[in-house]
Amino acid sequence: MEHLSVRLTSLSSSATLAMSQKSNELKAQGVDVINLSVGEPDFFTPDPIKAAAKKAIDNNFSFYSPVPGFLDLRKAIVAKLKRENGLDYTVDQIIVSNGAKQSICNTLLCLVDPGDEVIVPAPYWVSYVEMVKLAEGMNVILPAGIDQNFKITPEQLEAAITPKTKALILCTPSNPTGSVYSHDELEALADVLARHPQVVVISDEIYEHINYVGRHASIASFPVLRDRVAVINGVSKAYAMTGWRIGFLAAPLWLARAASKLQGQY
Ligand SMILES: Cc1ncc(COP(=O)(O)O)c(C=O)c1O
Repeated sequence: MEHLSVRLTSLSSSATLAMSQKSNELKAQGVDVINLSVGEPDFFTPDPIKAAAKKAIDNNFSFYSPVPGFLDLRKAIVAKLKRENGLDYTVDQIIVSNGAKQSICNTLLCLVDPGDEVIVPAPYWVSYVEMVKLAEGMNVILPAGIDQNFKITPEQLEAAITPKTKALILCTPSNPTGSVYSHDELEALADVLARHPQVVVISDEIYEHINYVGRHASIASFPVLRDRVAVINGVSKAYAMTGWRIGFLAAPLWLARAASKLQGQY
């Protein structure tokens, strides 16, 4: 007899990992397969990163790390956000996690109460909706087809927001579509959100550097949203470090503190 919680039984298995496994099985049978499931870069972790990690092991960086991450790493993230994104954060606003995936889940668990609505533009990365379910929230799927370049419009966003809307998950550059929101498109969405102060934006920017369209813009750059945007990023995609499991959340202090509190327990 199984004794699983409703929370677990209502969760779907990762479709991405299932596809990846299927592809590995076919490869093992000698089938020529191009695996487009998991987002694995087609290069290796750069040598200076590998060398630094080896040095860190030799220097006995093998004890429990601080819950929000090592201070030097958080300082480097603050510097990156300023240099590459023009965003101002303090180290207290940065929480390092085991990949962007954990950062997103932490954020949802900090924000969402049972029955709260979370807007997810579709097509979406499969884990978002499962994480919303874990947090006992309600997914509100906003379809954005090829006719609109897979991007939601301000009108769609306005129509989807209700008093129960807690968060919008925005992924730019997008997995799976590759669409990139321009600065002006983000500004138009920010103008809508300015009218709805109960909505927090979870801005998944993990694909920032896999962008063949134009300059990356972050919705966190609009002052009107500064105290309610959770920027999610990490090293998996840009530096081919998917297996290293290093991601981060950059957020207003109230949210960063909550994510650290949560992470301190699991
Ligand atoms: C859109 C999106 N966000 C987040 C992640 C998770 O990244 P990480 O490896 O840092 O957990 C992925 C990984 O495939 C992704 O596609």
